[in-house]
Amino acid sequence: MSYKNPYLINFQSIGNSTLGYISVAECFREIPFEIKRVYWTYFTPNNVERGNHAHKQLEQVIIPVSGNIQFELEDISGTKSNFFIDHPNIGLYIPPFHWRKIKFSHNAVMLCLSSLFYTEEDYLRDYTEFKKYAIVG
Ligand code: TYD
Repeated sequence: MSYKNPYLINFQSIGNSTLGYISVAECFREIPFEIKRVYWTYFTPNNVERGNHAHKQLEQVIIPVSGNIQFELEDISGTKSNFFIDHPNIGLYIPPFHWRKIKFSHNAVMLCLSSLFYTEEDYLRDYTEFKKYAIVG
């Protein structure tokens, strides 16, 4: 099995400080998959850690439409990467098999573009089970 890596996406900011800006995300251009689902989170208290799961197939692009979001991602080999995203023209691509821990500023609105419809079957919510994929591949 081959594993992909997370990376940041710089969306174009169309406009100027007088008018304001527009950023655009199109499938197979800025977004490396067809978008099947969009969801967003908001009003997460500062001190709460969310996430603590990975996905088997789901690919996502996260956009901090407002506020800031911290991600700690861990792949199945144990390599960790940290991302602090705090601007609405930045996206974070998260591939399958990345355990995520997420913290939000209270004013954060996290927009998530997803490659699959919601299904609990795709979740790995048990860290030990997640790490088993490093062995079985
Ligand atoms: P979850 O992805 O587990 O978020 P977190 O790890 O940050 O807590 O989702 C939280 C709950 O929301 C969970 O019960 C599943 C539900 N949910 C849906 O019903 N549909 C969705 O598209 C998403 C993302 C979550």
